[in-house]
Amino acid sequence: MTRAWTWSYEGYDADTERLRESLCALGNGYFVTRGAASEVLFGPAHYPGTYAAGCYNRLTSTVDGQTVENEDMVNLPNWLPLRYRICPADTAPGPWLSPDHAFLTEHRQTLDLRHGTLTRWSCYEDEAGRRLSVEQCRLVHMGDPHLAALRTCFTAHGWSGAVEVESGIDGAVRNAGIARYHGLADQHLTGWDTGDERPDIVWLSCRTLDSDIRIALAARTRASAGRGGMPHPQLSALQAFHSLVLPVTADVPSVVEKTVTLYTSRDPAIDSPLHAAVDGVVLAPHFRQLRASHRRAWENLWRQAKLEVPGEAGGILRLHLFHLLQTLSPHTAELDVGVPARGLHGEAYRGHVFWDELFVLPFLNLHLPQVSRALLDYRYRRLPAACHAAREAGRAGAMYPWQSAGDGREETQQLHLNPRSGRWLPDHSRLQHHVGSAIAYNVWQYGQASGDTEFLHTRGAEMLVQIARFWASAADWDAALGRYRIRGVVGPDEYHDGYPDAAAPGVDDNAYTNVTAAWVLLRALDLCRTLPEAHQRQLSERLQLDPEEPERWDDIAHRLHVPYHQGVISQFAGYEKLAELDWDGYRQRYGDIRRLDRILEAEGDTVNRYQASKQADVLMLGYLFSPAELASVFRLLGCPLDDDTWRATVDYYLHRTTHGSTLSALVHAWVLARVHRPDAWTYCEEALTGDVADVQGGTTAEGIHLGAMAGTLDFVQRGMTGLETRDEALWLDPAPLRELSKFGVRFRYRRHWDIDLRIRPEQVRIAVPASENPPVRVKLRDRSFALAPGTSLRLDLPEER
Ligand code: BGC
Repeated sequence: MTRAWTWSYEGYDADTERLRESLCALGNGYFVTRGAASEVLFGPAHYPGTYAAGCYNRLTSTVDGQTVENEDMVNLPNWLPLRYRICPADTAPGPWLSPDHAFLTEHRQTLDLRHGTLTRWSCYEDEAGRRLSVEQCRLVHMGDPHLAALRTCFTAHGWSGAVEVESGIDGAVRNAGIARYHGLADQHLTGWDTGDERPDIVWLSCRTLDSDIRIALAARTRASAGRGGMPHPQLSALQAFHSLVLPVTADVPSVVEKTVTLYTSRDPAIDSPLHAAVDGVVLAPHFRQLRASHRRAWENLWRQAKLEVPGEAGGILRLHLFHLLQTLSPHTAELDVGVPARGLHGEAYRGHVFWDELFVLPFLNLHLPQVSRALLDYRYRRLPAACHAAREAGRAGAMYPWQSAGDGREETQQLHLNPRSGRWLPDHSRLQHHVGSAIAYNVWQYGQASGDTEFLHTRGAEMLVQIARFWASAADWDAALGRYRIRGVVGPDEYHDGYPDAAAPGVDDNAYTNVTAAWVLLRALDLCRTLPEAHQRQLSERLQLDPEEPERWDDIAHRLHVPYHQGVISQFAGYEKLAELDWDGYRQRYGDIRRLDRILEAEGDTVNRYQASKQADVLMLGYLFSPAELASVFRLLGCPLDDDTWRATVDYYLHRTTHGSTLSALVHAWVLARVHRPDAWTYCEEALTGDVADVQGGTTAEGIHLGAMAGTLDFVQRGMTGLETRDEALWLDPAPLRELSKFGVRFRYRRHWDIDLRIRPEQVRIAVPASENPPVRVKLRDRSFALAPGTSLRLDLPEER
């Protein structure tokens, strides 16, 4: 259930508990802990994962007789454990209690988005009729990224006695969160050590097996003043716990506070993670103070990312923003990390970094540009690895990996399991070289939105040029066609990783790949032409730019092949020759056909034979580019794109897409909003409910879909407002949906903080706060305005909008 600032669940449901754990996870950009019960270490319903950004480890496994290597985001020791049982004065202690126990009579939990806390409330009643209610509030500190805390308040209703509590850190964890990966090696930690510092502090340290990252956690457990309950350390090889007996008096709350610190050897300004963790927990204030400073940090953050959307949609969007900010916070700006596709909320996709940042950075650019820049620096530091990969593939420039993690090498799995057939299959998704264009797009967008020329003219330019070089070397001249072609790739639609019966994987002339490649080449040219002389010289020297290279880029950018058939853009060359699927038949037989690839493979067929896409592919072009910009790229390519062709293309793929990725509904909503189709809202709703209703059938329990979450925020911010930052101006072209026609966003544009943009069905209003900054240039369709700080502009929208 959602209210404006809270997200609540009534009752306990073992079947959906793992989903709740993902949606109620708490974090601060440095680490995230799933919203798991503190009472259970592990179980079918419980997976208490904790993940630190950028903390990966590589393991080797054998599947189907083949040795495969996978690098995973490591599940760190669990700091949540806190279990309890009733100790009556006269008899032996009762059983350890948990939401799974039959003594549970009531349960509810609430995620407070404004203040970043999760409160779980449970009530138990034993056979003797003793009722115990337990209210537990937790936080992962947004101000101090190494701190977390758990305050548990026990109330004995009408009886007195004691509650025995065990609280500690569990190092006996594995990466066991994903059923599909169960055949693979999962023990990433080794070298455990445990100890105590004072009676109330215990610690646990360990390290990752291959990447050799040292990790330390310390926990302080204290009973509320004056209520007795001295903690006794209990140490074993893999666990550091406290046990304490807490006297309880009828109807008087008794509190246990647990405060935890987490450090790794990747942290700056520490001598050792263990010293830092112990010192940190010694100095940590009480829960009340911690909560106050945590709230202040969140208030500050919410001020920088304001989105006002009424109703149910607004509540979901706020939850999306909350999880985005927990994954990528201002602390991220201090780290060497990328955008993990599934947040830091679970182990799906191993915490890897895909092209999903394409759906994340455009939103962050206008709120936390320093975070966008850090995320781009993650890519910049891995530019040498991308150049190495290109060389190995016989190409020039930079070939960024489809899946990236620690050092920037290709981390895409060699084999993936089809759970329907039980077969391990070769994974060719690494041929999605379009990830490079996503990085270039983000470099460009970040530069436009932030005005950060220091970045754009140096590291940004280097990445852009190296990606352009890669495309130039990947494009072959086809004399018969009179066009350049890029062959052997996979587009965003992962269903098509080759032609049916072809010996080699990959498809040719993927329209999305080619059009974005042309766009990258054009931007690289623009940048090289406009760079200040000193930067131009530096860039030429660093990259040994041949003066003739730009000419070749220009030629390719104008003559890359974009295939068409039946008056629509073809997803790739030969798409039209593929068979039509019996859509109704498959829907009738299977109901949910989102993962049609798995269904067909289990039937001994292959989705490569059909005109059926997993997700938006050609239509991604309408997501990245405004209609005007898209038309201009196509014009330069010598294949004009008129409204009718685009509409026909949208229709064509709309009927041939299964939406097996959460990104797909989002892109369709975005594109349909522009072609003014009444069904845009259907896709918007699907995108909004993707995670909260777990639309992809169980995948959210394995981690949130960060790209789709951030994309829905950007759908409001840019999709429906038509907001673009280009040519030193803010461009607006509102296209609000009937169902979402009244909303406001506040964003930062260069030195202007808090620009306020409000959309009403018939009106748009933009206000620039007072400052010493120069006016903002605003373009609304064909009109242009200079908006001085301290002024606002109100314009009527034409009626058909
Ligand atoms: C999608 C990709 C996406 C990945 C990670 C896949 O299911 O097909 O486009 O990058 O998930 O989110």
